[in-house]
Amino acid sequence: MHPAEELRGKKDNKLLHKRIVLGITGSIAAVECVKLARELIRHGATIYPVMTPSATRIIHPDAVEFATGHKPVLQLTGQTEHVSWCGLVEDPVDLLLISPCTANTISKIARGIDDTSVTTCATTAIGSGVQILLVPAMHLSMYDHKIVQKNIDICKDHGVLFIDPFISGNKAKFPEIQEIVETVIRTIGKRDLQKKKILIIGGATAEPIDDIRVLTNRSSGKTAVALSINAFERGADVELWYGYAQEPVPSSIPFKRFETVNDLLVLMNNKGLKQFDSVIVCAAIANYIPKKQKGKIPSGKETLAIDCFQAPVVLETLRSRIPHAKILAFKTEEKKKNVKRKTQQLLNRYHLDGAIGNTLSGFGGEYNEIFLLTKKGKSTWKKGKKEELASVILDLLR
Ligand SMILES: Cc1cc2nc3c(=O)[nH]c(=O)nc-3n(C[C@H](O)[C@H](O)[C@H](O)COP(=O)(O)O)c2cc1C
Repeated sequence: MHPAEELRGKKDNKLLHKRIVLGITGSIAAVECVKLARELIRHGATIYPVMTPSATRIIHPDAVEFATGHKPVLQLTGQTEHVSWCGLVEDPVDLLLISPCTANTISKIARGIDDTSVTTCATTAIGSGVQILLVPAMHLSMYDHKIVQKNIDICKDHGVLFIDPFISGNKAKFPEIQEIVETVIRTIGKRDLQKKKILIIGGATAEPIDDIRVLTNRSSGKTAVALSINAFERGADVELWYGYAQEPVPSSIPFKRFETVNDLLVLMNNKGLKQFDSVIVCAAIANYIPKKQKGKIPSGKETLAIDCFQAPVVLETLRSRIPHAKILAFKTEEKKKNVKRKTQQLLNRYHLDGAIGNTLSGFGGEYNEIFLLTKKGKSTWKKGKKEELASVILDLLR
């Protein structure tokens, strides 16, 4: 067995049975294609690599063969690889992913020029309707070139999808591998949340005690980010409202920051809230808000009492603002024996469509155990990685 086969499905099967032609062109970011190919295989995909002559000067074809388990096509042969993969055939591939894609190759694709094995695959794919996804990588002066931009628009007009580079200084930077993989899954995955507009509210609140100190909690934001990524991969339009938390948010997920309960209420007042047909609240929101003191509470006191008042209940406001939306919310209990009862109470009190109970053990780590309850009375316990649980929770929104 080729070593690449040992990786197949190691993470999950989101791309199992999906066949992808990976076009590699002469950008320095071609050095990333080994990592990219292997990550796609970990999600189950089969990768057929195709390289331009310039790409072979940046990364050796042997490295690409090692990463994918297939000899890269450097020159088309009598096998007419471009047709059997990207043509009008019974079983074309699911995607032509060109990553990285140079300014040169973008422009050739836009103008129907095919003088490399990569551009010939692209011309064939556009003609037959095989989906193309391009990941441009180049110096900013090339990316900002008006003709290159025009050619990007021409490609888009023909249904070609792009992952926009991240502009930093004078570079149009290649995205994180994770972002490319998530977009591939979104493009050719199950798309069962397509057309859904989902808002995820996650992370902790942080309420000021004085001008520099806050009262917060240990919510890591992992569940919120896992839910956002899973919804994105399944084709939803997703937005994250993200509190005080450390888990990084991938650049494919649009997000707004909040710190206090009041910030959240302000966000909810916005007309934009009504666009969402579903909301999941997994944020650890303050129940008590300290009375803020001006400046800095002096150090050196032997004891310090901080007065708090009860926080307004965000779920109450949310339900009243969007009465027709599906709302799912989390409830954390200290003792597992109370989780079922308290989750049911939460669901009833705020007229939720689903409620998810868990214990303090879910805070911070990679794993959680949740009690899922729907308003129709279906319930189940699930244990696993937060990414796996995110998938189960989002099944409730299909
Ligand atoms: C080391 C090196 C790095 C390069 N990086 C890029 C790049 O990031 N983006 C780009 O558009 N061109 C880059 N080029 C220029 C392309 O390789 C050149 O335009 C070539 O004709 C592209 O051919 P291809 O599109 O067929 O691969 C680079 C060239 C070299 C030598």
